Amino acid sequence: MASDQECDEVDVFSCMRERRSIREFTDEAVSDKELYAILEAGTHAPSAGNMQAREFVIVRSPEGREAVAATTDAGITSRGTVLTQRWVSRADVIIVICYDRRRMGARYGDKGRTDMSKLDCMGVAQNMMLATTALGLGTTCVIGFDAGRLKDVLGIPAELTPLLLLPVGRPAVQPQQVSRLQVEELIRAVR
Ligand SMILES: Cc1cc2nc3c(=O)[nH]c(=O)nc-3n(C[C@H](O)[C@H](O)[C@H](O)COP(=O)(O)O)c2cc1C
Repeated sequence: MASDQECDEVDVFSCMRERRSIREFTDEAVSDKELYAILEAGTHAPSAGNMQAREFVIVRSPEGREAVAATTDAGITSRGTVLTQRWVSRADVIIVICYDRRRMGARYGDKGRTDMSKLDCMGVAQNMMLATTALGLGTTCVIGFDAGRLKDVLGIPAELTPLLLLPVGRPAVQPQQVSRLQVEELIRAVR
């Protein structure tokens, strides 16, 4: 996988506004260079104590992607639409974001093995999603899968816990805007 990047610099605020969950993809491949840029963006995410609990499993083969999709279950969007998650297999590559609970656990105990490791992965996922948008690619953060079954089908070692899937591909559609609560609606108190 190439490490040299020639990605255009894109304003982060534009990426945050433009990012949408993408669940339909064209047949066009994601290049090694693009994939590396997305993974590298993940490495820049903050991490409690800089323990960097995150590790990635990359699934590129059609059989592997089918096997991952078979471990998914239905999710529900903010608009209440029930989804099957078979679409996951139609992405060109699936990034499985895992954490090694021993890393944060060694320093922070139970909270490190649970909350802190999961938050570490979410920061990684957000960086990767913004990088995906910046590259003109699409993805969705997916938590609707059976982690135990996924470990079995991908042969993920016992010490790793898969938390999120990022199926990445070239968007086949431009999804509609979703409604967002405004800042004023989210500020509960100013003290
Ligand atoms: C932690 C997390 C888990 C999610 N899991 C799923 C999922 O399993 N399947 C799915 O289709 N979308 C999933 N989503 C995507 C949300 O449905 C999506 O972000 C939301 O509907 C808002 O749409 P937008 O991403 O286009 O802004 C998840 C998002 C987050 C943050």
